[in-house]
Amino acid sequence: MKRTHNCGELRSSDISKKVILCGWVHTRRDHGGVIFVDLRDRYGIVQIVFNKGEILERAKELKSEYVILVEGIVGKRPEGTINKNLSTGEIEIVAEKYEILNISKTPPFEITQENIPSEEVRLKYRYIDLRSERMKKNIILRHDIILSVRNFLSKNNFLDIETPLLTKSTPEGARDFLVPSRLEIGHFFALPQSPQLFKQILMVAGFDRYFQIAKCFRDEDLRSDRQPEFTQIDIEMSFIEEDDIIDVTEKLIYEIFKTAGMEVKIPFIRMPYDTAMLKYGCDRPDTRFGLEIEDLTEILKNTGFKVFSETVKNGGVVRGISVPAGDKISRQTIDNLTELAKKLGAKGLAWMKMADTGFESNIVKFFSPDELKNIKEKLNVKTGDIVFFAADKKQIACNVLGNLRLYIAGLLKIIPQDKFNFLWVVDFPLFEYSAEDKKWNAVHHPFTAPSSDISSLPETTDLASLKSRAYDIVLNGTELGGGSIRIHEEKIQEKVFEILKITKEDAQVKFGFLLDALQYGAPPHGGLALGLDRVLAMITKSESIRDVIAFPKTQSGSCLLSNAPSPVSERQLKELHIKIDNIKK
Ligand code: AMO
Ligand code: AMP
Repeated sequence: MKRTHNCGELRSSDISKKVILCGWVHTRRDHGGVIFVDLRDRYGIVQIVFNKGEILERAKELKSEYVILVEGIVGKRPEGTINKNLSTGEIEIVAEKYEILNISKTPPFEITQENIPSEEVRLKYRYIDLRSERMKKNIILRHDIILSVRNFLSKNNFLDIETPLLTKSTPEGARDFLVPSRLEIGHFFALPQSPQLFKQILMVAGFDRYFQIAKCFRDEDLRSDRQPEFTQIDIEMSFIEEDDIIDVTEKLIYEIFKTAGMEVKIPFIRMPYDTAMLKYGCDRPDTRFGLEIEDLTEILKNTGFKVFSETVKNGGVVRGISVPAGDKISRQTIDNLTELAKKLGAKGLAWMKMADTGFESNIVKFFSPDELKNIKEKLNVKTGDIVFFAADKKQIACNVLGNLRLYIAGLLKIIPQDKFNFLWVVDFPLFEYSAEDKKWNAVHHPFTAPSSDISSLPETTDLASLKSRAYDIVLNGTELGGGSIRIHEEKIQEKVFEILKITKEDAQVKFGFLLDALQYGAPPHGGLALGLDRVLAMITKSESIRDVIAFPKTQSGSCLLSNAPSPVSERQLKELHIKIDNIKK
């Protein structure tokens, strides 16, 4: 080894020692008769002093990000120059010799820079960006957390088992990334959207408790919390029920946060899906602030305001939210909110403001005194509050008010930033009707067990009323993970496929291997997957999961560092019998 120590470990107790250090020139300060270099490596920063003879002259050549080796003596910093912000702040190295191991071009941005350069530049020069304290911390925390996950799960009898990346399409609902096979022309592997089918098969194989830090691939529209390639902490257990998985996951989350120096209170509350949709308008409620939605359908079904009563007559709902607006929401803001509501599918956004003398707005006159009193009571309206209403199909009303609620909370700055509100969403519906596909789809995936026996359903059953044994874990409005108890009996699985209009042949082609396995003694089983990147982004309060991934893709799905994806050679295409058609630029 060239080094005797790293740049973060020398202390007062090392004074007078002769040391050899290696690292990058973080900064160089030239004070005439003396040059200071802050030398940086992964472990920290240490001050090097060049103050004598020949090397003082030579050290003028040192530039930002040069890689150097320094030999010197650890000295005490003079009184008044101790740097409390550095772990090595009490000492400095008086250089006797140094050697340049490599030079560096002037970096495209300074690592010490407080204001972060554009993400495009950061991603192109990711190796420079990763040298920053902020990014380095995130990457090290990611390591620490993965290690704690492995330790915790191994201690609890889970086995880390790898599953293939070249595999068949799994039905998680996104588009697949396909990989053409050279040996079987016209055939394709799919990169896994999750290890779902394989982990279930591992239960059939008797491994009892499985986990994997699993790479998953989904070709979907990207957002700040979505990457085409992301990582799950994936688990599956046999002979268990919902409570067992929920209990293990809570303890795992406790462990993860402890590793990050935070304490979370377990167990987490459980909220039925219907409550989440009603009160928060979505299935991943942010409960850090109030602004809860209330259903006003019953109160207003006969109101003289026809927009509302007609909606109810046509099977819709009327819902409202009371906002402590004071004078922070102007007429202009209300117009902007109305535009937002319309973008979300609403026909309009009715509102009333509570003045000292009662409700005010141009629609108040259509409501009876009793109706106004009931609205006031149900929504606990105070003077200065504005009530916003959505009258529409249930799904649209939820979506509109759910989004407005978040938007308004941001506007009023009432979201506490230091709270970690975990909760489980349970009692999900099993199926949802897709008007677009004109058929029923699985709300989770088609292997999710129903809450009741569905093997022989009466014709009249409302499929929307069936519940599943799925659960999602939510933190501050972000879905961190989800899972379910699985179907382990073939006849129930067949029934689900029938409802989803997946034919026997189609099922056999797509996941025949799972269906076959279910016939050979499949134990009752279930599991869950946590999005590791999202967990890390929440802990580090990162705006995007890109900040906790060493080499992420951009919003448009490309890697600016390597320039992937990129064209391949004619020869490669020929081998795969692939022809590229109609490239539009
Ligand atoms: P699900 O599809 O809910 O479940 O995924 C589990 C968790 O993975 C994270 N996640 C993502 N993170 C970043 N980018 C993405 N594109 C992305 N998509 C999902 C989320 C999500 O909660 N096989 C089931 C799990 C099971 O049933 O056991 C599954 O994959 O945090
Ligand atoms: P109108 O009678 O169309 O002038 O609407 C009166 C008020 O009700 C306006 O503020 C509209 O934005 C609002 N509005 C119209 N349709 C709906 C609806 N479906 N839900 C909530 N508000 C609505």
